[in-house]
Amino acid sequence: MKISYLAEHPQFIDALAPLVSAQLRPIDPEETLDGRVEKLHAHLNRDILPIAWIAHSKSRVFGTAALRVKDLPGREDLTPWPGGVFVVPRYRGRGIGAALCEAVERKAASIDTAPRLYLFTLDKQAWYSRLGWEMYESCSWCGHPGDIMVKSPAAPNNHSTGRQICR
Ligand SMILES: CC(C)(COP(=O)(O)OP(=O)(O)OC[C@H]1O[C@@H](n2cnc3c(N)ncnc32)[C@H](O)[C@@H]1OP(=O)(O)O)[C@@H](O)C(=O)NCCC(=O)NCCS
Repeated sequence: MKISYLAEHPQFIDALAPLVSAQLRPIDPEETLDGRVEKLHAHLNRDILPIAWIAHSKSRVFGTAALRVKDLPGREDLTPWPGGVFVVPRYRGRGIGAALCEAVERKAASIDTAPRLYLFTLDKQAWYSRLGWEMYESCSWCGHPGDIMVKSPAAPNNHSTGRQICR
């Protein structure tokens, strides 16, 4: 299993988009499959935000995560934001989500202007706390209560993509 830029494997958008869209639709009434495909295409970058990563094998995609300039309407004062963290249900609990978040953080650490990262979550506060994230403040998205969390990114290295996961 590897972590790569989505830009290196855009063919996986077709598999990811319906799953991510189905996850978000009950929360965001404006979520559509076409919109999700378009959004993932906008993440086909390596050095400018937004950037998306995928966890994958040669033929299968297991999950995705992104780094964005903004992610929560009304909080454009905070940047950058890891977001779009999603692992295909049958591959959860194997460290893939944590590995994707690590790739995002390492990239962020290489951006001089990003001393702190912010993320928004409705219900994964405990999971992110295990990854070193701390509460920043409460907020809401699409009328649902959630929290902004904050973290200083991990030290950069040269292995943020193409990395083997051993779990
Ligand atoms: C959250 C998500 C990305 C985690 O992906 P994953 O690949 O299963 O994560 P990992 O394997 O790295 O971590 C799993 C561990 O976290 C634990 N965990 C899972 N959900 C948790 C939660 N809500 N709170 C605390 N711990 C949690 C698991 O029990 C497991 O523990 P273990 O390592 O002791 O066995 C995945 O569940 C997902 O895609 N959920 C739907 C989308 C989503 O909510 N994304 C986050 C948006 S803010």
